[in-house]
Amino acid sequence: MKIIIINGPNLNLLGVREKSIYGDQSFDSFLETLKKEYSQINIEYFQSNAEGLLIDKLHEVGFNYDGIILNAGAYTHTSIAIGDAISAIKTPVIEVHISNVHAREEFRHKSCIAKNCKGVIAGFGLNSYRLALTQFLLPA
Ligand code: DQA
Repeated sequence: MKIIIINGPNLNLLGVREKSIYGDQSFDSFLETLKKEYSQINIEYFQSNAEGLLIDKLHEVGFNYDGIILNAGAYTHTSIAIGDAISAIKTPVIEVHISNVHAREEFRHKSCIAKNCKGVIAGFGLNSYRLALTQFLLPA
């Protein structure tokens, strides 16, 4: 099974950025643990701060991977283009958020991508990614 985790803007600063919201673990160290825990899954990772590069990556992996776990960061709330890219591809996408976006500012309650995703997981810290990954192991 081949899964890719795609992180959007500012998520390269996990462990440094707003620790009270996003925690103090870097994504690299979390990913290392996740890969060991789920060694039966081929887990790839891509991060970009640029909307177009996120779309290019969705197009690249969206026809031959088994699943995409996407935290589009703030683009979640603004990007019709990322929403359209998810509609255009075949691979199922799970939208994830570290924080509970619904318990935060009003502008974070809206998602331009959720309706095109298989499901949404938010509010469980980095475990949101773990929950998304295990979902791909469940029977359809
Ligand atoms: C986030 C929530 C977004 O609102 C925010 O812009 C982020 C991170 C999360 O994982 O909680 O960058 O996607």
